[in-house]
This record gives sequence, structure tokens and C-alpha cells, in this order.
Amino acid sequence: MRAPTIPSLEAMTGLRDSVLGTVGNTPLVAIDRLRSPGAARVAVKLEAFSPGGSVKDRAALRIIEDAERSGALRPGMAVVELTSGNMGIGLAVACAIKGYRMIAVMSDGNSVERRQILAAHGAEVDLVPQVDGARPGQVSAEDLAAVEDRTRSLALKLGAYRPDQFNNVSAVRAHEEGTGPEIWRQTNGAMTHFVASVGTGGTFVGVARALKRIDRWISCVAAEPASAPALAGGPIRSTSHRIQGTGYAEIPPFWDATLCDGFLTTTDDEAIATARVLATREGILGGFSTGANVAAALRLAAGLPAEALVVTIAPDTGLKYLSTELFVDR
Ligand SMILES: Cc1ncc(COP(=O)(O)O)c(C=O)c1O
Repeated sequence: MRAPTIPSLEAMTGLRDSVLGTVGNTPLVAIDRLRSPGAARVAVKLEAFSPGGSVKDRAALRIIEDAERSGALRPGMAVVELTSGNMGIGLAVACAIKGYRMIAVMSDGNSVERRQILAAHGAEVDLVPQVDGARPGQVSAEDLAAVEDRTRSLALKLGAYRPDQFNNVSAVRAHEEGTGPEIWRQTNGAMTHFVASVGTGGTFVGVARALKRIDRWISCVAAEPASAPALAGGPIRSTSHRIQGTGYAEIPPFWDATLCDGFLTTTDDEAIATARVLATREGILGGFSTGANVAAALRLAAGLPAEALVVTIAPDTGLKYLSTELFVDR
């Protein structure tokens, strides 16, 4: 006789079996104090509420669990990934729980807090020097290419599992099945617009795909650094900007132009100014890309009727940038 199935405590009480049960289901918060008179409302999805403190926790967990299911990741293997920090931290959290060795390969242009958090979770950090000398806080497409080379050779040498976040569809699925439907439910179907920056494109493509499947009239707008509007086909004046984790001045493999209804750009100064006012007026401590996303969302909302509802993402927390000029003039 088969033993009766006992529901897990998690299912019965909300007690999580591990911290991985707290990835996703993040709050969505209206930022009415920054709303211009007559403009549409803007709401921000606070991804810092996940255990690794960023939107990448969702993609990292889905990538690891899909790889376990497919057999690409097996007990005893190491995980090696190219990261601007947040994917690495998401992977480090998952690896800590699941017992894998984790090596994060990153440019030394990324903020020091990210390295410290990775190390705190037991990950090893392999730092790649910047191509044209140190420019803290500004990681260029050339820097990223050097990190890619190093990641590929290290993964090969160790026989490690490489999540390859730029090409791994599990990242898009995490947002298509998680973030997108969550946003829709949280707005009770009232949202009209979605705005997000694009790094790998996992967030934008996954969320936009889910939203358009539910309501094809929801308008999805990509935010890009003003100096490198690659998706919009604009001139690339500089690949060095401060909006870490986004705007690599190339069209990412996941990019699906049919999901994108328009483009907005933000400058570094605009992203910083918006992150600061978001912290002082709304109590939301976001990073550079949060500032960029919210700046773009507020600009979009200013041209829309008051009944519209614009949703954007706060991909991570300002706590990861305290060593930078984000909140302190240097
Ligand atoms: C701070 C930050 N913002 C935004 C993004 C962009 O997310 P995606 O890669 O899903 O496009 C990332 C990605 O690493 C990030 O680290």
C-alpha cells in the first residue's frame, strides 16, 4: 500500500522549506509622490525583496533547477558564470542551498559590494581586469567580451556547468511564467504599459511575452542608456555608462523586436537623480538601473492620460552601490 501523501509544511503554513521559497512574488508599489499632475500612475516592482536582492534570483533559480532536471548539472559539479554581480549572487544563493561550488567571473569595473556579497555566500570571484584600464562603475562591451573569454575557458577547464545567461531560455521562462503574470495579477489587469531596461533581455522579453499573451494592447517599452541605444538602432556614442547590468550596446540573443512597442533613453545623470529622489521621496533605495527604469517610466507617464498605469522594475537595491557616487557626490 502506498503511503498517503502528506502536504509539506510550506503548503500548509507558508513556512518555507528554504530561502529559495522566497524568490519572486515581490511587491508592486505605486510611486504617487513622484507623479506629475494629470499624468498616469507609475508602479514599481521591488525585486530587491528576493533573497539575493535582485531580479536575477528568479532567472538563477530557474536555470539551476532546469539544469538539474535535464541532467546538465549533477552533484559534485561546479557552476561557472559570467556576471555583473546580480546573476552571480542569485546563483550563489541557489548553490549555497543545493551544495554546488560556484565561481563568478566578473569585470573589476563592477561595484565592490557585489563581490563582497558573492564571497559572503561562499562563491569564488574571478575578477577580470578592464580592457582599457580601470574605470570603476563603467563596464564596456569590450570589458564584457574579456569576461566572456575567461568564463568559457574556466568552465571548460573545470568541466563545470555554465548557465550562459545570455543564451539560456530558462531565464526568459522565469519571467514569462513568474514576473509577468505576477504583475498582471497585482494590477488587477489595470496596467496599460510596461517599461524595463535590457541586459540579457530576460526580464523584458519574458514579461512582455506574458503580458501580451494576456492582453495584446499592453504597450511594452525598452529603456536604453542614452549613449548606447543599440536596440532602437541609434548611434553608439559610448559603451561606457553607469547603468550596470544593462545596455551592452549589442542586441542580445533573446531579443524579440515584435514584443517592443517603443524605446526611451536615459542618461547616467538622469538615472542617478531619479534613484536619489526615489530614495528620499518614496523610501525606495534602488540601484542605477532602478533610477533609469523609473526615469523612463515617469517620462512615459507624463504623456499618458491619468487613467493609464505604467509598471516598471526596480531590479536591485541601492545597498549594492553604496561605494559608488549613486547617493554621495564624489
Ligand atoms: C542591476 C540590473 N538591472 C537590470 C538588469 C537587466 O536584466 P535582464 O538581464 O533580465 O535584461 C540586470 C541584469 O543583470 C541588472 O543586474
